Amino acid sequence: MSKVNKRNTQTRRSFLRGAALSSAGAVVAVSSTAKEQSEALITEAQSWAQELADGVDVTPYGLPIEHEGDVIRRNVPWLTADAVSSVNFTPIHALDGTITPQGCAFERHHSGAIDLKKEDYRLMINGLVDKPMIFTYFDLERFPRENHVYFCECAANTGMEWAGAQLNGAQFTHGMIHNMEYTGVPLRTILNEVGLIAAGDLKDKWVFVEGADASSNGRSIPMEKALDDVFVAFKANGEALRKEHGYPVRLVVPGWEGNMWVKWLRRIEVTDGPVESREETSKYTDTLSDGRSRKWTWAMDAKSVVTNPSPQMPIKHGSGSLLISGLAWSGHGAIKRVDVSLDGGKNWRIASLSKPGEKMAVSRFYFHTDWDGEEMLLQSRAIDETGYVQPTKTQLRAVRGLNSIYHNNCIQTWHVGKNGSVENVEVS
Ligand code: MTE
Ligand code: CO
Repeated sequence: MSKVNKRNTQTRRSFLRGAALSSAGAVVAVSSTAKEQSEALITEAQSWAQELADGVDVTPYGLPIEHEGDVIRRNVPWLTADAVSSVNFTPIHALDGTITPQGCAFERHHSGAIDLKKEDYRLMINGLVDKPMIFTYFDLERFPRENHVYFCECAANTGMEWAGAQLNGAQFTHGMIHNMEYTGVPLRTILNEVGLIAAGDLKDKWVFVEGADASSNGRSIPMEKALDDVFVAFKANGEALRKEHGYPVRLVVPGWEGNMWVKWLRRIEVTDGPVESREETSKYTDTLSDGRSRKWTWAMDAKSVVTNPSPQMPIKHGSGSLLISGLAWSGHGAIKRVDVSLDGGKNWRIASLSKPGEKMAVSRFYFHTDWDGEEMLLQSRAIDETGYVQPTKTQLRAVRGLNSIYHNNCIQTWHVGKNGSVENVEVS
């Protein structure tokens, strides 16, 4: 087994304690009383089959059943300085399939989530255009519409793991991602309306996009991308965007870092160069070992994580049949293949994708195995349609050093103990 670096926190379970627990934890056989009770669940009429149940849901908007009350966004208290400049994490460990329900999709705000009515919504397009225009929400609804599924990953996702394994849960290490079906209008359609496309040479032009919140979160996007697949969205997963995701209108920038997905979109200025705003200079750049910073690192490189088993999802059923599951995505296109390793990256086997990978959208992978009940170092490795292979942590550090926060797409390792408990570790 490779050398394992354990998480350096007070809460970590020591290797010895994990091993001591394992003999008890691995018991599979059920006691005879438990077996009788379990059979009664099928042979005896249960209370829920003997009386009339509640009628239709009287609450105006349904919530998940209370038994699923654990599938919620969570934050990391020491990471969240205050409520308005905050972040919470998607419970990716507890979800399946590929679509993230809005109600538990991570949020990241720089100045809180604003309450903006459709009636008060305005989108201004100005700068190097033939006719600067202001659109209402209802104007936007009159353009031809499209639907697309895309992931949105904050550039800071996994950022806390650069120096060592730290947060114990896929929700916390990889939960700054969501994957939704958006309904809206391609930005190129709107830019065409203001006379931009007719205006001639767009090669060196940019758009500067801003939100209506106090932070405004301004970002520059090269025109080539703006006219390619950038999308002005007003619905997610079939319903209106939630307030926290930018109601009533947000920008969708497929495959590119979440910070560019401007919420409460209020202004798009066509410029002849990047604005070099605060969000794209002091933030979202990565400082290398020699002190230089990487610039314009917009596309999120291919990445994956095993979501189950993971620290919040220990193996409870003992050895034998085990379904390993996880997520993979790439900002450079579709996921082509995902490999899974049970021994810290020495041997790799191909996982199955639940459906063929889609461009800039999350893929779900499954790997079915027969677990011998021994310790495992679980890893997954994504390969996208460009042939790019997700790097190990050692490979990434060799190129990027240790100063970065953003754009950490390295292979994640989970240590699985004999008792099925799972812990965030590093292998070297
Ligand atoms: N847009 C505005 N107007 N204000 C913001 O604070 N946060 C950005 C981006 N768009 C932000 C914003 C960041 S850093 C990310 S990662 C995504 O929105 C998060 O989107 P979400 O909150 O819908 O998950
Ligand atoms: Co972000």
